[in-house]
Amino acid sequence: MLRTFFVRLSENRRLRNFAERSSLGQSVSHRFVAGTGIPDAIAVTRTLNQSGISVTVDNLGENVHNADEARLSARLYDEILDAIHAQGLNANVSLKLTHMGLDIDEQLARDLVSGLVSRCAAMNPRGFVRVDMEGSPYTQKTLDFVRELHRRPGHSGVVGAVVQAYLYRSENDVADLLSERIRIRLCKGAYKESAEIAFPAKADVDANYVKLMKVLMKSGVYHGLATHDEAIIRQAQAFATSEKISRDAFEFQMLYGIRRDLQQQLVKDGWGMRVYVPFGTEWYPYFMRRLGERPANAIFIARNMLRK
Ligand code: FDA
Repeated sequence: MLRTFFVRLSENRRLRNFAERSSLGQSVSHRFVAGTGIPDAIAVTRTLNQSGISVTVDNLGENVHNADEARLSARLYDEILDAIHAQGLNANVSLKLTHMGLDIDEQLARDLVSGLVSRCAAMNPRGFVRVDMEGSPYTQKTLDFVRELHRRPGHSGVVGAVVQAYLYRSENDVADLLSERIRIRLCKGAYKESAEIAFPAKADVDANYVKLMKVLMKSGVYHGLATHDEAIIRQAQAFATSEKISRDAFEFQMLYGIRRDLQQQLVKDGWGMRVYVPFGTEWYPYFMRRLGERPANAIFIARNMLRK
């Protein structure tokens, strides 16, 4: 119920406008967001790289309202890729199609993302673009989009998809994506979806995650297992050992600011670890979804604010 409450709050425009402009909001968001500008994201990336953790940088934002906003967000990704390349950082990028204008002009979104993928393909070493998965109205479009981009000359292996274990359809989506050897990030899913299309019970989501995770791990394609769920991570490790899957054949992924202890432990034990580093001024929906996953965070943050 609390999760639903926070997901609803994440969609509240008025609260969002207020929060994103207030200095209190900005200081609160630092728990999960690297900062507001590219230099903040790059500084965090460098620090994580120094501790053996690779990164995916996300320029926060979704559902832009006009073509100029979409072009601006693509330009920021260009600048991030420049910085990654120039500074030799171990990082790729994650983006949302609605941030690239999917709602207003599909062709524009296609051109902008294709430009970024081409740029990654030309980098040495090659870069990588992960297309995040948004709410269910976008699932099919996003997967079609990734498949189409992946088929373009030179793009194979440079663009990847995200599959959400809470959706009933995900088993089929995994099979389709694997038939084209497309890299997948597996997550549980962060949006509010109906019981008609998604498992309502957490235990079923977790079971589906483990089932799909094993399919991915045996596929011979390099995938990302995105979760902070320690029990699932232990199952992945045991499966890798029993199936003789090497530790560099896949990676664990976590969000910036969440379970830093576990991130470090996994690196220390020789497992691949990538952290999702979001930055930008439009942090509100992302931040609210994180509170929804663990409402105790709201109390934790409030307590820290009072201590300051
Ligand atoms: P679960 O929610 O069951 O949590 C397991 C444990 O992890 C908790 O008991 C707690 O200890 C810890 N934990 C989880 N969330 C926490 C939080 N916010 N604060 C503190 N502790 C927390 N979703 C999506 O729909 N589309 C996408 O593209 C992505 N992309 C993505 C990338 C990466 C790298 C990650 C890690 C996650 C995503 N997600 C996502 C979000 C994902 O779908 C999911 O909502 C969260 O990861 C929380 O689910 P867990 O798998 O961590 O398990």
